[in-house]
Amino acid sequence: MQKAREHWSSHLGFILVAAGSAIGLGTLWKFPYVTGENGGGLFVIIYIACTFLIGLPVFIAELIIGRAAQRGAVGSFAFLSHNQTFWKGVGWLGVLSSFLIMSFYSVLAGWGMNYVFMSLTQFWEGRTPAEISQAFTILSSSGDITLFWHLAFTALTVAVVLPGIRQGIEYWSRFMTSSLFVILLGLVCYSFTLEGFGKAFNFLFSPDASRLTAKGVLQALGLSFFTLSLGQGIMITYGSYMRKSDNIPRTGVIIAVTITVISMLVGLMIFPIIFTFGFQPEEGLGLVFKTLPVLFSKLPGALIISTTFFILFVFTALTSSIALVEVVSANFIDLLGWSRRKAVLVVGISCFIFGIPSALSNTDLVFANWKLVYGKTFFSTIDELVSTWFLPLCGLLTAIYVGWFFDRKQVEHEYRSGTNTIRFFRPWIFFVKWVAPIAVITIILNTAGVINLDGGQKEVEQEMEVETVSRS
Ligand code: TRP
Repeated sequence: MQKAREHWSSHLGFILVAAGSAIGLGTLWKFPYVTGENGGGLFVIIYIACTFLIGLPVFIAELIIGRAAQRGAVGSFAFLSHNQTFWKGVGWLGVLSSFLIMSFYSVLAGWGMNYVFMSLTQFWEGRTPAEISQAFTILSSSGDITLFWHLAFTALTVAVVLPGIRQGIEYWSRFMTSSLFVILLGLVCYSFTLEGFGKAFNFLFSPDASRLTAKGVLQALGLSFFTLSLGQGIMITYGSYMRKSDNIPRTGVIIAVTITVISMLVGLMIFPIIFTFGFQPEEGLGLVFKTLPVLFSKLPGALIISTTFFILFVFTALTSSIALVEVVSANFIDLLGWSRRKAVLVVGISCFIFGIPSALSNTDLVFANWKLVYGKTFFSTIDELVSTWFLPLCGLLTAIYVGWFFDRKQVEHEYRSGTNTIRFFRPWIFFVKWVAPIAVITIILNTAGVINLDGGQKEVEQEMEVETVSRS
């Protein structure tokens, strides 16, 4: 028999936990770096549109599946679809994505831990901005140091997850999420005074179609799924811990708005540094580590600010990684009957081992020719595979499931329980049934080159560029 599940102690508690899992390195690290690579403006608009038009409906759909089925991701799909292999497969794909994300997430968070210590030694003293940012290049190509922190962070996560969900997660999330918000606001105010602020603002908010590629659109979609923690059954599992009186749609809106606001704040904090100190927006995945210490070094109390920031960076990563390990383990506990201890330890150790090539991806210690063969590092390969392909695919199938296969009455019942604003039910189900699937399929086909939404305009522009270059 299915055991009665634990439930969150309060509605606010749930929102904070969901926010804690959602706000993480996606907003702090991935948003600025992917935005920089895709030329800002239009990418940001598409990212926000994806968050609200596709992400939010899918977010609500996942919570509904979980609360209706009272099980984890795979279990929910199995239960609701009467054990159909295909839908169970969708659940497992989500679990696999979480596992893969955790494997590189801990490498990143590990670098963050390292920056806490670097901040304590005030490593920026006597260095130029270029030299300060160079420190990251050195760090990421030092396999042993990166590996050490990767291990430290994975161990920390396991240590928090082992005691159980409530003490483990809720306790940490509340305080950390709000502190992060405060320090971000402070730093944005400072960035506002930098001379590059105007340029940064323009870069972020004025749409410039020439800088965005078809792949960029898919990346924007993937980013919104990554930051909302969708397409992995995470929200299905969280939904199963919600009470019938909790308001699902409102929770979704709050999380989507919070994520968007924080992403914008992070953008407004980082891009002025880039334009003021002569960095490039396309700096790549080290962007946060390369730019922020430069800003900190200019501030009075650099030691305290930099250390506090990176501590918060690590803690927000921790609230996300806890959720990642928790949810992957929960599926093993539910389905294979493992003890909690065994599941968490096996998941933690496997994530560590699978993360080793990511940790060493800027060295030639393992898979030395990976980049030559595949055109990107092992780290980026895994990141891209999951964020750009698995998450949108899984999100698409989740939307299709709820829109087309899930009993409509049950969906409506679950949506209504806990909320008074039922007038959004119809628009929501319309989005889940039609808009999200069509949009995701279109974006994927566009990226694969099967259809061409630009109408060939890019190619014409490129040809013209080639001509001008060859003439001059
Ligand atoms: N949303 C998290 C972030 O922005 C990352 C993430 C992706 C995540 N999937 C998750 C966190 C699953 C917790 C659970 O950093």
